Amino acid sequence: MACPLGKTRRNFVFGTGNPNADILIIGEGPGAEEDAQGKPFVGRSGQLLTKIIEAIKFTRDEVFIANIVKCRPPENRRPEVNEIDACEPYLKRQIDLIKPQFILALGLTAVDTLFKKKHKMGDIRGKLQNYHGIPTLATYHPAALLRNPNLKRDTWEDVKFLRRLYDEKNANQ
Ligand code: URA
Repeated sequence: MACPLGKTRRNFVFGTGNPNADILIIGEGPGAEEDAQGKPFVGRSGQLLTKIIEAIKFTRDEVFIANIVKCRPPENRRPEVNEIDACEPYLKRQIDLIKPQFILALGLTAVDTLFKKKHKMGDIRGKLQNYHGIPTLATYHPAALLRNPNLKRDTWEDVKFLRRLYDEKNANQ
């Protein structure tokens, strides 16, 4: 399916990290810096995401970071349904190849796309979901935390929960 975002983007931002990662982190779509570098989460939100990942004792190299849409929406608007639909096969293939133990969905675009349903972040966050057998947690997008630092506390609880689940699952290995 041809996607209009392909016409305006500079780089296709596939994703970065460990192709065998236990944790797959999914954002919304590339911004200006990501489009320029061809890598996800390298702008301001990305710097905060790096801190979040490191706060729970992972590194960016250990996890895999991807987005719902791989091309930057103009003016950083939210991706449209047709753009999400056109790009979803890439994400599905990534999930199939990486086979992560856990998915962390950042923001409503990610969680709504995965579960084909409109959510309220306040309701869905921090609750374990099941994405085709993969335990999945949703939390706030780092851009939301930059706009509203009060959300950092809940996000911290959510990612600590993810770390706990990961440690429990991998305790005897
Ligand atoms: N926001 C996202 O959702 N993804 C990026 O790659 C950068 C910012």
